[in-house]
Amino acid sequence: MRPTTLVGILLGTCLAAPAAWGQALKSPADFAGISDPAERSRALFTEAGKVIESPRCQNCHPVGERPTQGDDMHPHLPLVVRGRDDQGAIAMRCATCHQVANFQPAGVPGAPKWHVAPVEMAWQGKSLGAICEQIKDPARNGRRTLAQIHDHMAHDVLVGWGWHPGGTRSPAPGTQAQFGALIDAWIRTGAACPAS
Ligand code: HEC
Ligand code: HEC
Repeated sequence: MRPTTLVGILLGTCLAAPAAWGQALKSPADFAGISDPAERSRALFTEAGKVIESPRCQNCHPVGERPTQGDDMHPHLPLVVRGRDDQGAIAMRCATCHQVANFQPAGVPGAPKWHVAPVEMAWQGKSLGAICEQIKDPARNGRRTLAQIHDHMAHDVLVGWGWHPGGTRSPAPGTQAQFGALIDAWIRTGAACPAS
């Protein structure tokens, strides 16, 4: 839970110094020196993986019933479950607490249509290579083409929230535009996946 006293908040902010705060992302140009396209593609995805593997994305792509919270990815408190439609149980709908924007006074993150990623899109505990294969697989990516995957990564509001998470959460590395550029370059080089 969040510290409730002012001292607690100040201490918590200092002690839980966000690991990825301000972490940069390389641009596609930084990989121009890799002449083999497949090797360059894998390197581009690995760089984009700094975002994909960040807690901001992973917390909403759990394997089980329950989303996770915070930079340490602890189980969601209070206990909530994905329910039948990934939007929570009947009495504990995600949108009851999560509004369309972050609510800073209570530290509740928010974005339009806040809900958990379907279980076939679960990422937690999987290797970056496995996540990469899954993202390319229409049976597990919401029937998206690679162009639609790029569009989702570059423009979706739940994805974009990762760079404006509010509270003391560390934002995802780089910017959403830089992340989109890496995904675009990954697709153009053949969308190869890292081995693991
Ligand atoms: C608030 C919860 C939430 C957050 C935070 C979130 N996602 Fe998702 N994500 C979802 C939901 C829900 C879907 C399914 C949407 C659909 O299919 O229309 C999804 C689907 C996706 C998909 C398409 C399917 C797939 O897995 O291939 C990608 C790609 C994706 N998210 C990337 C990200 C990235 C990158 C971040 C972090 C920067 C992120 N998401 C953060 C909830 C979230
Ligand atoms: C009873 C209120 C409540 C309900 C219902 C609720 N949440 Fe939350 N959620 C919170 C609060 C409060 C936080 C912030 C906790 C913190 O950061 O210490 C939070 C944080 C989160 C985070 C963490 C974001 C991050 O990266 O740190 C995710 C993910 C999340 N909720 C997803 C969901 C999903 C998905 C649902 C529906 C299945 C849901 N929540 C339902 C209150 C709620």
